[in-house]
Amino acid sequence: MVTTTDAGEPVDGRSRLRDGLGFFGSFLRNPAAVGAVLPSSRYLARALVGRLDLQPGELLLEYGPGTGPMTQVIQATLPPGARYLGIELDPRFHALLTRRYPALDFHLGSAADVETVLRERGLPRPARIVSGLPFASLPPAVQDGVAAGIVHCLRGTSGDFRTFQYVHAYGLGAARRFRALMAQRFDGFERLGPVVRNVPPAFVLRYWGAK
Ligand SMILES: C[S@@+](CC[C@H](N)C(=O)[O-])C[C@H]1O[C@@H](n2cnc3c(N)ncnc32)[C@H](O)[C@@H]1O
Repeated sequence: MVTTTDAGEPVDGRSRLRDGLGFFGSFLRNPAAVGAVLPSSRYLARALVGRLDLQPGELLLEYGPGTGPMTQVIQATLPPGARYLGIELDPRFHALLTRRYPALDFHLGSAADVETVLRERGLPRPARIVSGLPFASLPPAVQDGVAAGIVHCLRGTSGDFRTFQYVHAYGLGAARRFRALMAQRFDGFERLGPVVRNVPPAFVLRYWGAK
């Protein structure tokens, strides 16, 4: 199946294969930051993105879009007038995303710097944040910085934060540490799945009620 991306590079079977190989190369170069050997499946992307329910002018942030499996679903379902910013640390992924999704904006840098990024771009606080960051392999200082930014963005709003964690890594210390951190800072939590049509299978986590 070929999907066009608003005058961007088409996404077809061949580019998915290229994405898979490029993603694996990035994993070998930086396993902790990439945190997976393959991009997410469309099934996990749909489970994570779900219904966006954004109003015109509201902002959706995506952390760690990688090669863009979530971005593709987001672009297809983003309501008219809603805004999008992807924050990606890897320059190769950032270049690919910019080429493939020219109608969307991407920032090259760390999600931990979200407050500065929003201020410098003159953007409002987001209504929703979806994340592909590999919290189970991120060091504590990065987890803390990203979590503080998420809480800063969503405190006092009805917005939510969504992420996924692989089933095989769910019990790892770093994955548990991140969930404990989020449990302290959010009133609401739900876990969906596992989504088994993904390599590897993953749970979707949703947090709301930032305090
Ligand atoms: C597990 S991959 C997920 C990629 C994509 N969302 C998917 O589901 O296939 C993690 C992504 O997070 C990016 N990343 C890691 N640390 C980051 C950070 N601090 N800020 C922004 N992106 C980061 C990596 O470069 C990579 O693209």
